[in-house]
Amino acid sequence: MKIALGSDHAGLPLKKQIIDHLESKKIEIKDFGTYTEDSCDYPDYAMKVAENVASKEFELGILICGTGIGISIAANKVPGVRAALCGDTFSAHACREHNNANILALGQRVTGQGLALDIVDTFLNTEFEAGRHERRVNKISQIEEKYSK
Ligand code: RB5
Repeated sequence: MKIALGSDHAGLPLKKQIIDHLESKKIEIKDFGTYTEDSCDYPDYAMKVAENVASKEFELGILICGTGIGISIAANKVPGVRAALCGDTFSAHACREHNNANILALGQRVTGQGLALDIVDTFLNTEFEAGRHERRVNKISQIEEKYSK
């Protein structure tokens, strides 16, 4: 499994902790930035990760900003991306199982490190259930197609 990661400056510390966590589990990752604490714009990193997940170059992505809100809104503008902002493990499980979310968004200023790592593990270890959920996810794609023209 190849995981794409990105953050703005506000999400950088948590991103580093997640990278250490995933590398300790021998999970292949690529960090698309930001790499410094200099102030930057979350849409730039949302787009890099979102494009790499939408193209299927990477199976799943993780994006972090201060709240997780801006970076998830931006990622969801890329066709094929279903980014889910999660602050609990139930949502992390459900967004994979029901919504086939392909990007997890986290808020560094909202969610503590221990919980964030549990959310990451839950997200990466849960499969899409398909079945009745597939029809609904397909309807999300249809909305995207309608407004992509
Ligand atoms: C940066 O200050 C902050 O606005 C950003 O990280 C994020 O929380 C936006 O949604």
